Amino acid sequence: MPADPAGSKVVLRPMTLADIPQVEALDRECFPTPWPEGAFLYELTRNPHAFCWVAEVESPTGQSEIIGDIVVWLVVDEAHVSTIAVSPAFRKQRIAQRLLAKALQICKEKGAVQSMLEVRKSNLAAQRLYLKFGFTVVGKRKGYYKDKKEDAVLMTLPVLDDEELADLADAG
Ligand SMILES: CC(C)(COP(=O)(O)OP(=O)(O)OC[C@H]1O[C@@H](n2cnc3c(N)ncnc32)[C@H](O)[C@@H]1OP(=O)(O)O)[C@@H](O)C(=O)NCCC(=O)NCCS
Repeated sequence: MPADPAGSKVVLRPMTLADIPQVEALDRECFPTPWPEGAFLYELTRNPHAFCWVAEVESPTGQSEIIGDIVVWLVVDEAHVSTIAVSPAFRKQRIAQRLLAKALQICKEKGAVQSMLEVRKSNLAAQRLYLKFGFTVVGKRKGYYKDKKEDAVLMTLPVLDDEELADLADAG
């Protein structure tokens, strides 16, 4: 039974192997083309550049459930936001904001100075999230999403600012 959004406490923590079934279910729920089976396992166990975190909720009855995730790749000095998702029942509570801020803070500690990502042209909710962080549109990748031949909007954040990230992370 899913946790009740009302009165639940959301905690952010690193993803573990035990989380993978729930993370994969969340991915299937949130994306038209979810990651293939084994992709999250690869990120956790084989990709030394990946930072994988989850948002977990514990309801007043003690049930816990993964309701958000993020994977960011740190490549040289750049944090590439690879995926981020929040369960529909828990959206608009700044959980994605907290996850993204946390991931960028960690990457900055490890040497990132900037961030970049691709997002579907039609995905205005996600674009608004990134704009709030100061990402700007710097280009597009034509037909990047093969399912609908949809363009990707390429966004970058040239400076990871400690104070701004701390404010965004505190939004809970
Ligand atoms: C995009 C997504 C991760 C946002 O998650 P969320 O937890 O609901 O987002 P937050 O509550 O943290 O929103 C933070 C900010 O993002 C923007 N935002 C998020 N959802 C929005 C929406 N539906 N409409 C407009 N702005 C939105 C707002 O600026 C918001 O700030 P505010 O609270 O001051 O208005 C979520 O909708 C999702 O999982 N979508 C499906 C997966 C996906 O598209 N991932 C992104 C791939 S690039």
